[in-house]
Amino acid sequence: MVTGKPFLTVEQIEKRVQELAAEISNDYEGKDILAVGILKGAFMFFSDIVKLIQVPMDIDFLTVSSYVKKESTGTMNMHADLRENVRDRHVLLIEDIVDTGLTLNHIRTLLLERKPASLKICSFLDKKSCREIEVPLDYVGYAIPNHYIVGYGLDYENKFRNLPYISIFKSEDQE
Ligand code: PRP
Repeated sequence: MVTGKPFLTVEQIEKRVQELAAEISNDYEGKDILAVGILKGAFMFFSDIVKLIQVPMDIDFLTVSSYVKKESTGTMNMHADLRENVRDRHVLLIEDIVDTGLTLNHIRTLLLERKPASLKICSFLDKKSCREIEVPLDYVGYAIPNHYIVGYGLDYENKFRNLPYISIFKSEDQE
């Protein structure tokens, strides 16, 4: 079940997305970006932030998964690769959450092999205490404690992604 009060409200999310977009626009002034959303989880954050970033961009998506219910399997499945060539481009990876870091580490390694001009990472949420491998994060919306959260793209068994806010999820046996 989803607990009553949002962990992050629509207003808190909007405010932080605006701040991140302003910072990114400033940092990339004079450059073109290839913004890469990591699906499925990043779809809502991606859509919100690209509307506010004030530099020219192309967009693309990677579809990957590694979680079954609440647990990382430690194995990243690539369901769909990029359609764009990243060589010599300024790639900005846009992710919903970093937990163990395994997903982003895998993607980062894969994309660096393709020789982009630069590669930066923007994650809306950062569960630092769960990290198993360090990944350099350039832009973070909120650092959060180790709650299992859903909404704003994040799921439990593919449900709750459509919530416009972020809530703590509790299994029936935790109630
Ligand atoms: C979630 C999330 C991140 C990843 C973070 O994706 O969207 O991509 O897990 O976890 P990690 O840092 O421990 O690797 P998931 O594998 O659940 O797929 P989804 O995006 O389709 O929900």
